[in-house]
Amino acid sequence: MIPPDRELLQIGPSRDHARPPLFRLLETVLLRTAILGLGYVGTTTAACLLEDGHRVLGVDINPAKVEALGRGRSPVVEPGVEERLQAGVEAGRMTAATDIAPHIDDLDLVIVCVGTPSRADGKLDLTHLLEVTRQLGRSLAGRSADRPPLLLVFRSTMPPGTMDRLVAPTLRKAAGEAPGGRYEIAFNPEFLRESTAVKDYFSPPKIVIGEREPGLTKKLMGIYDGIEAPIFEVPFGTAEMAKMVDNSFHALKVAFANEIGRIALSKNIDPQSVADLFLADTKLNISPYYLRPGGPFGGSCLPKDLSAMLALARESGLSVPVLSGARESNAMHLAWILQAIKRRAPAPGPVLLLGLSFKSGTDDLRNSPLLALAEMLLEAGYDLSVHDPDLDSARLVGVNFALGVEHQEVLVERMVEDVEPAAAKAAVMILGKPMKHLPRALLEDPRLIDIDRLGTSLASA
Ligand SMILES: NC(=O)c1ccc[n+]([C@@H]2O[C@H](COP(=O)([O-])OP(=O)(O)OC[C@H]3O[C@@H](n4cnc5c(N)ncnc54)[C@H](O)[C@@H]3O)[C@@H](O)[C@H]2O)c1
Repeated sequence: MIPPDRELLQIGPSRDHARPPLFRLLETVLLRTAILGLGYVGTTTAACLLEDGHRVLGVDINPAKVEALGRGRSPVVEPGVEERLQAGVEAGRMTAATDIAPHIDDLDLVIVCVGTPSRADGKLDLTHLLEVTRQLGRSLAGRSADRPPLLLVFRSTMPPGTMDRLVAPTLRKAAGEAPGGRYEIAFNPEFLRESTAVKDYFSPPKIVIGEREPGLTKKLMGIYDGIEAPIFEVPFGTAEMAKMVDNSFHALKVAFANEIGRIALSKNIDPQSVADLFLADTKLNISPYYLRPGGPFGGSCLPKDLSAMLALARESGLSVPVLSGARESNAMHLAWILQAIKRRAPAPGPVLLLGLSFKSGTDDLRNSPLLALAEMLLEAGYDLSVHDPDLDSARLVGVNFALGVEHQEVLVERMVEDVEPAAAKAAVMILGKPMKHLPRALLEDPRLIDIDRLGTSLASA
């Protein structure tokens, strides 16, 4: 398709992302889009789609916002938005309305950006989402049968399960047919930050597309073509959760940094210098390390130094719930794993625990969550066998020797060298850490619970 108004883009406002507008336009199929919900996300999305040469119909139930947008005035304060809207209106590519229904035949793609504010109980209020979905469904029912399928893209933040359990059934009922025929649905979470939203749109950290079947919408009909960012086409639940996970982590980062800052200040240490050192470590700190769901933390350093940090805070009369919560959360995680094992195989099992030292490649037993788990299993009455190629109970020295004495039953009586016979009789096997040289059949055995990957073996356990 030849872009009819290519020249307009060259006179559009400049932006500081990598690709020149014309270059990006040549890669983009121009679409007739509608944005439902003209708040921060909807208005910014409208401005950015206009810059990419698309046509935009802005729809909101608030007539004042519609009237403003129709004149190229932004209903929200966001750098770079208004000039793009104005250019769009002048070029005849930006219009606004309070109802999508009369325009439904003239659209290729609809983007839903209505608000999903917090309720008193912390859950997201999906009232606007439900209402706009009903309206969309009813409008779809009136779309001429000869029109190509309409793509409905939901950008509003929503909890996992909403697309499958609320959006799709509501549309099916209101439109009179399920997605896949005259319309398709997608979830595309928004990662922009207010005040840098336009820049973030064109230079996002990632693009996440949730679909009924990954790949179905051909990357949302190409609206992100030319934007350099990794694109992830995933099931709805993964995409829905991604947005909430990211913001939870950002909140956690701020709270963590502030707790460290408070402790540093209480000891007359410059918090920013401490932060500089922390941030300089891009191997272990600002990195994927320690960020995958798996087993609890343990070993000789993390629990000890966390406790020491908590003691520092206590000494200064400081409350640091994020840091103390980490210790509590770790203990709860181990208890949760034990419950999962109990559900899978009630005592006495038998149970085979693969791994005892706190991680692969070391015989260090200090604060090993796996040793704690072994004791918990014995306490719960399990017939327990333990296999760990990193451990030779006859060679334990120092603190490990003392631990060997303290946990004699586990370390002497329950250890097995030969994994096969113990595996053969086990009702459930627990892989506590990556372990080389285990037979492939054992790793694929449905009786295996892989703690280290926190995989589906635990969900079904
Ligand atoms: N603001 C952000 O920085 C940001 C960032 C990422 C994601 N999000 C998410 O994006 C969504 C929108 O956020 P926002 O800040 O733009 O919301 P907002 O409250 O600023 O705007 C929502 C708009 O939707 C309109 N609306 C409500 N019902 C409607 C209907 N039936 N039809 C048409 N319009 C309707 C409202 O009148 C309002 O103008 C939310 O789910 C939010 O969590 C927001």
